[in-house]
Amino acid sequence: MPDKRKIIIDTDPGQDDAVAILLALASPELDVLGLTAVAGNVPLHLTQKNAMKICELAGKPETKVFSGAIRPLVRQLVTAEEVHGKTGLNGPDLPEPTMKLQDKHAVEFIIETIMGEAPAAVTLCPLGPLTNIALAMSREPRIVPRIQEIVLMGGGLFEGGNVTPAAEFNIYVDPHAADIVLKCGAPIVMMPLDVTHKALTTAKRIAAFRALGTRVGVATAELLEFFERFDEDKYGTDGGPLHDPCVIAYLLKPELFTGRFINVSVETASELTMGMTVADWWGVTKREKNVTYMRDINHEGFYALLTERLARLP
Ligand code: RIB
Ligand code: CA
Repeated sequence: MPDKRKIIIDTDPGQDDAVAILLALASPELDVLGLTAVAGNVPLHLTQKNAMKICELAGKPETKVFSGAIRPLVRQLVTAEEVHGKTGLNGPDLPEPTMKLQDKHAVEFIIETIMGEAPAAVTLCPLGPLTNIALAMSREPRIVPRIQEIVLMGGGLFEGGNVTPAAEFNIYVDPHAADIVLKCGAPIVMMPLDVTHKALTTAKRIAAFRALGTRVGVATAELLEFFERFDEDKYGTDGGPLHDPCVIAYLLKPELFTGRFINVSVETASELTMGMTVADWWGVTKREKNVTYMRDINHEGFYALLTERLARLP
């Protein structure tokens, strides 16, 4: 087998983060160096606990979990309990974690890992607001040229926003962090709402998770049944978009996705469009291209991969 791909998952679990983490932990192609928790869907004390709950659900209590930023760089924290529930992982009744948080701060872990590994050896997988990533880049700019790739979930253009008419949640919560990351110069792949809204958790797909009959399969069905209800009501669809696992699926089967290398800039001034990702899909500006922006997905292949991999967990 070729060398495993070394990744750090930066996350704000969140049911869809949870499924992304399960997919990563189930996939032998990936070496999950650590999970770094960030405030987002719910406050930090819950996202860090939820990350540990998911590692134990996966039967991987040895996974390192680090606590990170408790709030965005500039703006006040905005959370999404209306989507994810009070705990951030509503759905299954998962036990309190017995594993312990790492002592080191998430930002220090990101810096030390990237500086300690060979150049271009570590991929960052942000699934929440980009606060930890921006802090690491600001604290130690030398990490930027050493990053193999940043594959993140965030943004949107054709789909509009999901937290305001203009902005997607992860970018909206910390637009200043997103601005730093988008301008950093490292290779960036973005999974925006334009692609995640084409990967719906239909009843048939959730039934396939439950039919695995495993602890993980049943918990995944319960997580997604809770998570999808908000978007089903909002969009009138069978199922809701499954955002964060698109990031991990890209690492495993990039051919599932199609997009374009374009300029993506973020609004950090106007309250009306705060956090909007202004994606120059049609190339109408001379702005420097900085992001591979995904717009389409082979959703049947995505769910086939997800179900097959989750079947490998207990
Ligand atoms: O807008 C969707 C994103 O916001 C996902 O990452 C979800 O987990 C929330 O963090
Ligand atoms: Ca998330």
